[in-house]
Amino acid sequence: MSKIREADVTLVKNTARIQDIVSSFVNLKPAGPGSFKGLCPFHDERTPSFHVTPARGFFYCFGCQESGDVVSFLQKMEGLTFVETIEKLAKHYSIVLHYEEGNTAKTNASSLRARIVAAHELAIGYYASHLKSQDLATRYLRERGFGEEVWKEFEIGYSPEGWDGLLRHALSQGFTNDELLAAGLLSQGSRGTYDRFRGRLMFPIRDLSGEAVGFGARKLHDNDEGPKYLNTPETAVYKKSQLLYGMDRARKSVSQSQQVVIVEGYTDVIACHLAGITNAVATCGTAFGIEHIRIMRRLLHDDVASQSQVIFTFDGDEAGKKAALKAFSEDQKFVAQTYVAIEPSGMDPCELRQELGDEGLRNLLARKVPMFEFVIRHNLQQFDLNIAENRVAALAQCAPVVANIKDPVLRNEYVRNVAGWLGVDIELVKRAVSTKPQSQPASVAKVDVGFDLKKIEHRVEYEALKVVLQHPAEAAEWYQSIEREAFTSPSLQSLHDVLYHVFQTNNFSESHVWTDEVIQSNPIAAQLIVEPLQIRESQSISVYVTSVLARLLELDATRRILDLKGQVQRAPEGSLQQTELFAQLIALEETKRFYKDHSRGQTLG
Ligand code: UTP
Ligand code: MN
Repeated sequence: MSKIREADVTLVKNTARIQDIVSSFVNLKPAGPGSFKGLCPFHDERTPSFHVTPARGFFYCFGCQESGDVVSFLQKMEGLTFVETIEKLAKHYSIVLHYEEGNTAKTNASSLRARIVAAHELAIGYYASHLKSQDLATRYLRERGFGEEVWKEFEIGYSPEGWDGLLRHALSQGFTNDELLAAGLLSQGSRGTYDRFRGRLMFPIRDLSGEAVGFGARKLHDNDEGPKYLNTPETAVYKKSQLLYGMDRARKSVSQSQQVVIVEGYTDVIACHLAGITNAVATCGTAFGIEHIRIMRRLLHDDVASQSQVIFTFDGDEAGKKAALKAFSEDQKFVAQTYVAIEPSGMDPCELRQELGDEGLRNLLARKVPMFEFVIRHNLQQFDLNIAENRVAALAQCAPVVANIKDPVLRNEYVRNVAGWLGVDIELVKRAVSTKPQSQPASVAKVDVGFDLKKIEHRVEYEALKVVLQHPAEAAEWYQSIEREAFTSPSLQSLHDVLYHVFQTNNFSESHVWTDEVIQSNPIAAQLIVEPLQIRESQSISVYVTSVLARLLELDATRRILDLKGQVQRAPEGSLQQTELFAQLIALEETKRFYKDHSRGQTLG
């Protein structure tokens, strides 16, 4: 693994213009001084809440809270790794990149990642070398129609039954116990570490960029007490909610065909690829979720006009249907393009290929039906539609599903379909659909933000962090004297803690680029970076910055004065303690007047 030189990364980040890059995906329109907005590419919306602030090199969506810089934007849009993104931008701006060898002694995050990936590459080779001599494993594979060339192509292996085969091999190759633990290749017992995978068939899992990040491991031995499939645990590089088995192979085919096929298991993915269905993927030991949807949307370059299709195959069992129904409730737009292909015999794609060959598997996909149709028909199946009352009851049950289809054209189509399936008049269905109250659109989850902008203190604290984030150079001097108690909102205070620390260790220029450390420290940070300041046209930035920070200090002083007054009253009358407190009080009143002069009556109403 080689690593791009830090200086080159910075050069790319500073050269790349966020509005240029974003504009090739999103139609941006001006939104106030120095800011643009458009429809968010990361969630479904009709009114623009996606903001770009070129001066800060930053984007933020008020709807889904997605945020970041030009690199993270492109990375998210195209499903690239960080390195791939930098390479792409470098090419775009004709910047020549220099690489360093990654496996130096440094243990920063990126080199740990490289070590974990390297450990997996080693493990793949190790497991593969143990496959051939293991009859149980090779028989299993042959029974499923996978010959030697398939083992090789899909890098299938076998983890030996001992406790430390891989451990010893990897140690001899220069890996440390900690690295192997971090990779999820070892388990930690009370008497030390041992191989996590033992006596299992090993399917290597690679991420989108093709880097080896984990394994799915199938049980082979009867005396194995563990689950049928054991996966790599969550690690720095293995995030099961974001991984799809076969994604590295399917990627190109998915974006070319504008179609992705989702199957249930590792063997099903392999069977599909062998049958020429090269856009097949599966989740890795977890249910299909919203993160998976996002990743696929990105690969499909999903947009409003797109004709992309997502096809779920299920081997007819209830679990599969449940998965489909769950996806149905998560993402309407996604569902509109989602199809379901169910094999009535209950065979999974791998079995189907064995029974009926590649052709049989391809036929399964040809029998796909739209997810809406699947859901509605699934509901109808519960009724004997020969009885008139049942048709009414069935209609009542289907109507909300149809009423919830947002696309009016599609909705009308389903009104007609339901009428046909039920054998009732179209007008009847229309009425049933329109009288059903539409359920709330999936709104952005309300988060407890930890402050209330109706309160003046919180408003000032909020604006203060905005000026610090947006004008660090101007804010630096005043910001230095602000203590954490000046923030009464816990969430704003915690962001201040992070920022203050950064301030103490950095010199700031007006073009300072905030690191992910700051941006990700607090969900509100990104919003504060892009939200327009409450500055009046006539005011200069530096005066405004000062006035806001001074106002924050003034409010802080006011609170402290109140506190001190209480202490003065409680102290024994005429005592030395009381005299001292009184002196403090007078000094604080003086300080407050100073702040007040500089805050210029800033009320941020
Ligand atoms: P299946 O039970 O259908 O297994 O699970 P399979 O892969 O078809 O294997 P054979 O043909 O029975 O030997 C389908 C998928 O569900 C996940 C795996 O991804 C598996 O490939 N799964 C299943 C687990 O993650 N854990 C389990 O314990 C079982
Ligand atoms: Mn199966």
